[in-house]
Amino acid sequence: MTAASPEFVVAPSLLAAEFAVPAARAVNGVADWLHVDIMDGRFVPNRTIGLDEVRALRAATTVPFDTHLMIVDPEDWAVRYAEAGCAHVTFHAEATDDPAGLAKDIRAAGASPGLAIDRDTPVEPYLELLPHIDLLLIMTIKAGAGGQEFLPAMLEKVRVARRHRDAGHLSLRLEVDGGIAEDTIEQAVLAGADTFVAGTAVFGAVDPAEAVRRLRALVGQAVRS
Ligand code: DX5
Ligand code: ZN
Repeated sequence: MTAASPEFVVAPSLLAAEFAVPAARAVNGVADWLHVDIMDGRFVPNRTIGLDEVRALRAATTVPFDTHLMIVDPEDWAVRYAEAGCAHVTFHAEATDDPAGLAKDIRAAGASPGLAIDRDTPVEPYLELLPHIDLLLIMTIKAGAGGQEFLPAMLEKVRVARRHRDAGHLSLRLEVDGGIAEDTIEQAVLAGADTFVAGTAVFGAVDPAEAVRRLRALVGQAVRS
């Protein structure tokens, strides 16, 4: 499924939307993926929708789901999200002892596996895992809530991962999540990211579809600069 995605992906995060179904429809045809955050009140203090709601939402839109599991024991849940039709299922490095095994299970269930690295986690220990996953999500905030300020220092992890990707694992997607907006997306592009989650910047805008178009245009400009 990753292969069918465009080179640069903008993924609006439904966390920032008041109502998920109308929000999903508002960006249908414009968003490449929809970023769906799942929080369990344990890995992070907040709680969000879960598997049942994701199943219902899956039926309401054709946009691929980029599912970001901020949960403990992702082994108990990740495959179920894949089976529910989520194209991309990303779990946190901090939440599992066997990321390669979990990635394999997600792939066997028909989804693309992703690994997320939270703010306080270095990327280096996970570089050897890159061949097992399709997507590396670098948090550019502390995972757990939308609307936080972008942390530019996190882009060093993107640069490190990008060098490894360019050295061999060319199909790996590099996703940034947190504080991505019109004034921060260019730095993320220049650091080497190709997949951009944006919550507040899209669903806090008067016209979410236009906000996605503007972010995409800024990605294009940064690539050409
Ligand atoms: C927070 C989530 C993000 C969140 C980003 O932990 O992973 O996806 O929705 O929101 P913004 O774009 O508002 O920072
Ligand atoms: Zn997220």
